[in-house]
Amino acid sequence: YLNYRVPRTRRDIFQTLIKGLQRLEYRGYDSAGVAVDGSGKDHAASISLYKKTGKVKALDEEIYKNNAIDFEAELDTHFGIAHTRWATHGEPSPVNSHPHRSDKNNEFVVIHNGIITNYKELRKYLVSKGYEFESETDTEVIPKLIKYLYDNRENEYVSFSTLVERVIKQLEGAFALVFKSIHFPGEAVATRRGSPLLIGVRCQYELSTEQIPVQYNCGKSGSLHPFFSNQFLHPAGHITSLHIAIIEHTNKVIYLEDDDVAVVMEGKLYVHRIKRKAGEDPVRVIQTLQMELQQIMKGNFKAFMQKEIFEQPESVVNTMRGRICFDSNTVILGGLSDHLKEIKRCRRLILIGCGTSYHAGVATRQILEELTELPVMVELASDFLDRITPVFRDDVCFFISQSGETADTLMALRYCKQRGALTVGVTNTVGSSICRETDCGVHINAGPEVGVASTKAYTSQFVSLIMFALMMSEDRLSMQQRRLEIINGLKKLPELIKEVLALDDQIKSIADELYHQRSLLVMGRGYNYATCLEGALKIKEITYMHSEGIMAGELKHGPLALIDKHMPVIMIIMRDACYKKCHNALQQITARQGRPIILCCQDDPEISKMAYKTIELPQTVDCLQGILSVIPLQLISFHLAVLRGYDVDYPRNLAKSVTVE
Ligand code: F6R
Repeated sequence: YLNYRVPRTRRDIFQTLIKGLQRLEYRGYDSAGVAVDGSGKDHAASISLYKKTGKVKALDEEIYKNNAIDFEAELDTHFGIAHTRWATHGEPSPVNSHPHRSDKNNEFVVIHNGIITNYKELRKYLVSKGYEFESETDTEVIPKLIKYLYDNRENEYVSFSTLVERVIKQLEGAFALVFKSIHFPGEAVATRRGSPLLIGVRCQYELSTEQIPVQYNCGKSGSLHPFFSNQFLHPAGHITSLHIAIIEHTNKVIYLEDDDVAVVMEGKLYVHRIKRKAGEDPVRVIQTLQMELQQIMKGNFKAFMQKEIFEQPESVVNTMRGRICFDSNTVILGGLSDHLKEIKRCRRLILIGCGTSYHAGVATRQILEELTELPVMVELASDFLDRITPVFRDDVCFFISQSGETADTLMALRYCKQRGALTVGVTNTVGSSICRETDCGVHINAGPEVGVASTKAYTSQFVSLIMFALMMSEDRLSMQQRRLEIINGLKKLPELIKEVLALDDQIKSIADELYHQRSLLVMGRGYNYATCLEGALKIKEITYMHSEGIMAGELKHGPLALIDKHMPVIMIIMRDACYKKCHNALQQITARQGRPIILCCQDDPEISKMAYKTIELPQTVDCLQGILSVIPLQLISFHLAVLRGYDVDYPRNLAKSVTVE
C-alpha cells in the first residue's frame, strides 16, 4: 500500500494494511505481519516490523497495545507492506512470518507468495558470505540476497528496481514479491513469476480500456521512463495478490505478467521487463473489476460459507445469464465459440481439478459422455502429473478451478499445453493465472467465494459443464429431446434450490443428533456419487469428523463391514436409473441394523419406511439432481461445524487458494 503526498496518520496506514489482510485472510492464515516506516522525524529512515502467529485480529491487537507507536503522527509519503502466511517451510511463528528482513536494521524487507525452490543453494552461498539467517523459511534468502547485491554494488548507482531484477534472475520457483527499503524511502517495487500479483490504481477518469505500455530494459541500470504523468494517475497505489484486498480503494487494476517489475515512485507507476520475448504483448491493460464490496461482506449470516450456500439460487442464474436462450433452446458460451469446431473434432475430453473442482468433473462426466459421445477422463491434477499421463494434440483439456490459481491445476495446464492439447479454463476468478494461460474458457460467474469450503462455486462449475455439454450437442437431432429436458430443468433450477434451502431447520435438527459422532459415511451411486464425495469432503474439512463418500456399488466389496447400529450413514437414493440398485444397497444396510438418513425424492413411501430419517428433495432431471442433493450436505456440514464449536470459514490447516504444489 503506498500513499504519496496525501497526509495520513499512522493509524490510517495501519488500518488500511490490516483491513486488506483481513480480506485476504481466508486464503491462508497461520500468521501475519506488517512493515511500516519507523517513528521519529525522519520516519522513512527506519522500518518497523510487527508480526504475530494466528489471526490478523491478533496482529491488530498487538499493534494497538504498543505504546511506542505514535498513531496520530501525520505522514505525507508512505509505503507499507503486509502479508498473511500459510506455512510451507518452517512452522507458524513470528520469526517465520512475513515480512522477512535483510538484517537487524531492517534495511530491506520483503513479502512473498509462492515457493523458492533453490533457496538451499542461495542460503548456503549467503551464509558463506557472512549473512545470518533467523527463520527456517525459503523466503528469507530474498531480503538477504538484495542486501548482498546492494552492499556489493561498488561505486555504481543502482536503482531499487534494478536490484530487484538482479534478485529475481537468481530465483527459481514461484513468487510474487513486494519490497520496501530504508535506502529507497517511499518507493515500492513488486514483481512476480508464477504467482498472481496485481496493482490497483486510482485514476481521475474512466479508463476501462486504457493500456499501460511496458518498458523493456536495454541493459542500462535504472533505465526507467514514466508512463503516467501525475495528473493522470491519482497518487495512490495498492499492490496485492488478490483483488478483494483492494476493492474498497479502487476497481481499476493492472495484472502483472511473469517477470514484470513494477515500481511506484513519486506518484508514478512504471512497469518494465528485463527482456522482451518474441511475440510478447507490450501493453498492460487497466481493467475495471466488476465487484462490489457488499458482495464480499457477510451480511446477516453467521459465516461466509452459510451466506454462499444461500446465494446459490442467484449464483446459478448468474452462471447461466446471457448464455442460455430458453426460447430457442440454444446455449452459447462466448469464451468457447471460436474453438467449438476444434473441440468437436477432438479425440477425448480430460477434466482436471483438485478437491471440490475435481468433484464437479466427476458430477458431470456422465452427461458429457452422453451428449458429446466422446471419451471423458476426470483427473485429480496431482495424480495426473504424477502418472505423466499421455496427452495428445487432439485432446481437449479442461482446468476447473474456483480460484484459478491452484498450483497443481496450473502445473497440469502447463503440462498439457506443452503437449499441444487445446486448454480450456473453467474458473471463477477473472484474470487469474488459469484464465490467462488457457486457450479459451468459461467464467462460472458465481461471484466471490470467501468461505474456505467451496459451495456455490461447485454448483456453478456443475452448471457450466452442463452448458458446455448442451452447446456441443446442439446440432445432434437424436439428442434434441434430452437437451430440451435438461434446458427446462436448468430453467427451474433456482426455484428448486430455494425449496431445498427451505429445509434448513430440518437439516439442523439432524445435525443436532449427529454432531457428537466421530464418523459419517455418505453413500450413493450414478449421478449422485459425486455428491457423496463432495459431501464427505465438506464434512471432513470443516467439522473434522471422519467422513467418506462411498460408491454404493462397492458396498459389498468392503465398506459393508463398517455398518452396525452405531455407524451414522447418509444415503442418496433418487428416482433415476440407479434407483433399484440403491434400494438393494439400502436393504443391505438395514439388514445390518444400520439406521440410514436418506436423501430421497418427495413422496417415496418405499424408501421412507426403511429410513431412520429422510430429507425429501424436489425432483429434477437426473443429470441435474446432484446440484440439489449436494445442498443438504453443505448445510449439514455447516451446522455440524457450528455445533462442534469450530470456525466454519477458517478450518484449521487449510487455505482457500493452494498456490503451492
Ligand atoms: C473444498 C475446497 C478445495 C478446493 C481445491 C481446489 O471445499 O475448497 O478442495 O476445491 O483446493 O481449489 P480451486 O477450485 O480454487 O482450484
